[in-house]
Amino acid sequence: MSAPEVPDDKRVHIFDTTLRDGEQSPGISLNAHEKLEIAQQLARLRVDVIEAGFPITSPGDFEAVQAISREVEGPAICGLARTHKADIDAAWGAIKDSPRPRIHTFVSTSDIHIEHQLQTTRDDVKGQARAAVALARSYCEDVEFSPMDATRADVEFTAEVCAIAVEEGATVVNIPDTVGYTTPAEYQRYFERLYELAPGLRKVRISVHCHDDLGLAVANSYAGILAGARQVECAVNGIGERAGNCSLEEIVMLLRTRRDVHGFDTGIDTRELARTSRMVSRFTGYAVQPNKAVVGRNAFAHESGIHQDGVLKERTTYEIMDATTIGLDSNAIVLGKHSGRHALRNALEELGFEVDGAALNKAFKSFKELADKKKTVTAVDLEAIVSDEMRQAPAAFELESFDVEASNTRAPLARVRVRLQDGSVESGSFTGDGPVDAFFSAINAAVGYDARLREYHVSAVTGGRDALGEVTVLLELDGSLASGVGVSTDILEASGKAYLRALSTALSKAEEDWSGSAAEEAELALEREQRSTPTP
Ligand code: KIV
Ligand code: ZN
Repeated sequence: MSAPEVPDDKRVHIFDTTLRDGEQSPGISLNAHEKLEIAQQLARLRVDVIEAGFPITSPGDFEAVQAISREVEGPAICGLARTHKADIDAAWGAIKDSPRPRIHTFVSTSDIHIEHQLQTTRDDVKGQARAAVALARSYCEDVEFSPMDATRADVEFTAEVCAIAVEEGATVVNIPDTVGYTTPAEYQRYFERLYELAPGLRKVRISVHCHDDLGLAVANSYAGILAGARQVECAVNGIGERAGNCSLEEIVMLLRTRRDVHGFDTGIDTRELARTSRMVSRFTGYAVQPNKAVVGRNAFAHESGIHQDGVLKERTTYEIMDATTIGLDSNAIVLGKHSGRHALRNALEELGFEVDGAALNKAFKSFKELADKKKTVTAVDLEAIVSDEMRQAPAAFELESFDVEASNTRAPLARVRVRLQDGSVESGSFTGDGPVDAFFSAINAAVGYDARLREYHVSAVTGGRDALGEVTVLLELDGSLASGVGVSTDILEASGKAYLRALSTALSKAEEDWSGSAAEEAELALEREQRSTPTP
């Protein structure tokens, strides 16, 4: 549901950082195609700003941010940059084609970071903030500045740095609780003090960015809003560094549901929340905990007889939100085995997928295979198979065939054939502790990598014995984590797809990390050279 009208001073802007801070979660690595899909869904959700990435960090991230800037209409598109010139140039290069570009630049103001990480001085930090905001403003009218680790920093010094950012033309000042350390009352007081020390902050939009290390990210963000912030930085399903960021769906529903007490609201179309959550979970491989507020599987489930009785008589006896307002009624049966291509295309369009030509043929083939096995195909099934097809593009490996023998009287044996990117097919076999172990070890043997399984989850996409199975795999390769998801009516096939996708992601991440550190090395060498070369 779109927001009812809200006065300007009560309108809270939603800055979504799923594709930047969210993507920094261990094991997540989205390719440009997936990032674009998620960004398009975020536009349907009507977020105000999409922080699409950190363009200096890798050519892949640069390209993803650029593609989002060129193709996604509606929200402002933001690129993150340290205060370095090269970062700001890269951010601008990636976002400049968006109709609403924003550069977000940051530098730490806490002494812990200044002394130990940046190994510099407060004066240098002030100079960096000034130069970075001025440079960003020379490119772009919309510039956001963040004093990183602000909540552990000296408030007087942070206020001075923020005042410099405002003087140089920053349009948004964001106060991050980078390590999830503050508490609601303390954060609120911090804002009050900042406004006293730097009255210029009243002329710009103030933003909150809270991490969830103590489980307070939503509460702290809410406290920041009460203290004057009108932008919340958040991520779908609360993903992000370590314990994650403020969860988008939770803060949005807190503002919508309790508008009676605070008067604030966002511009979010809440009916898109459930679908956005499923998409992000599927693409990132991060499952949503069943009891997660708003979008967890049990968020609207009533187990006890007393509660069920109450809800049957009158929904509001035990429900403070209506499931339909977050889009949880979309599981209606949409298609059956006799439905044609046209009906499939219409159903997909309604779900927000524009598929034509070869993609439609592929989706139709998968739909027919599914409809043969499953009597009814729901919207959620369709979403699962189409998203599954979309993930195929970058995979370095494809599961050609497999054969797993399982028994409780002898060790399980798995044989697999895997297609590599050059079209060749490699085989592997293994006798393991269990069928899944044997299967994954046979894949390792076929592709020649010694990946280790760290997590393995199986869930049913919808109810019923014929439901599609969705498997999430988290594996470790050479010390780095990568996740993958596979969907099929056959759990072993879904497992094989998930494992191979995680492996493909791990390899492309290793490649990017290598070129990223090479680029960073080159940049540091250049900086060293510039420092040691006297200016003429
Ligand atoms: O947590 C943090 O401080 C950040 C900044 C880049 C805003 O993510
Ligand atoms: Zn953060």
